[in-house]
Amino acid sequence: MKRAEIFESPDRLSAFAGGIFVPTMGALHEGHLSLIRLARSFGGPVITSIFVNPTQFGPGEDFDRYPRSMDVDVELATEAGTDVIYAPPTTTVYPDGVDQAPSVPLPPVATDPGLEDAGRPHFFAGVCGVVGRLFEQVRPSIAIFGEKDWQQLQVIRAMVAHDPRFEGIEIRPGPIVRDPDGVAMSSRNAYIPDGARHRARGLVAALEAIRSTRDAGDAEATMRAVLEAHALDVEYAVIRDAETLGPPSEPDRPGRAIITARLDFDGGSVRLLDNGPFPLVG
Ligand code: PAF
Repeated sequence: MKRAEIFESPDRLSAFAGGIFVPTMGALHEGHLSLIRLARSFGGPVITSIFVNPTQFGPGEDFDRYPRSMDVDVELATEAGTDVIYAPPTTTVYPDGVDQAPSVPLPPVATDPGLEDAGRPHFFAGVCGVVGRLFEQVRPSIAIFGEKDWQQLQVIRAMVAHDPRFEGIEIRPGPIVRDPDGVAMSSRNAYIPDGARHRARGLVAALEAIRSTRDAGDAEATMRAVLEAHALDVEYAVIRDAETLGPPSEPDRPGRAIITARLDFDGGSVRLLDNGPFPLVG
C-alpha cells in the first residue's frame, strides 16, 4: 500500500480540491479511522488534516500534553484510506501569530445552548476559525465530522450553511465508535488510569438508562443519577432539540440526549462527552 503523502504547506493541495476531507487533531483512534473509511466510500481523494489547534484550548487546558503520535497516525490513516495528510505548522495556519487569529462570526448554536459554549467559552471560536481556514486551503466537496462532538457538528453545519465562502461543501456525520465496554472513543481517554476506567462507563450507562423514557425531565434526572452513581462530576446531562440544541419545544423534531461529565482521579481529571438520540413526542 502506498503511504499517504504528507503536505506541510497548502501549495500542493490544489490538485486535491473537491476531495473528501477529514479534519483531526491526530492521536488517531478507531473513531477517526471510521471517518476516514467513510470518506473513502465516497470515491474521491481523501485528505486528512492533523493539526493540534492552539486556539481551541483555553488557559490551563491540555494543549501542551495533548497526545501527539504523527508516525503512527500516518500509518493508521494510510491503512484506513487517506491519500494525503495535511499537517501544517502553526505559522501556516496562523501567519500573523496565534494571538492574532482572525475572529469569525459564530452561529447561535455555538453561543446560546449553554453546553460546551458555557464550559469552554473559547472553544467554538477556535474550532470555527481553524475549520474555516482548513476549508479554504483544502477546498473539499465533502467534510466529515464525528457525532461524538454533537454540538461541534451542529456548529460546523450552521457555519457552512451561513457563510458563502463555504458554499458547495457538504457536511457528513460519522457515527460514534465505542470501545468494547461501551465508552465512546476519544483521544483524551488515554488520560484515564486503568483503575478509573469503569467510571467512564457512566456516560453510556446514563444513555442506556433512558432508552424507554419519553419525558425529557425524567430522562435528565435519570441521567444525572446514573452519572453521579459512577462518581462523575456532571457538567450537563440534558435533552435538547438535536439541531438547534435549544430546549425541546417542538414535538416530532429529532431530540438528542447530550452529556458532558468530568472524571476526577488522583493527579488528574478528564472531561468526557457522549450523546444519543432521544425521540421527542408531542
Ligand atoms: O474535533 C476535532 O478533532 C477538532 O475540534 C477539529 C474539528 C479537528 C478542529 O481542530
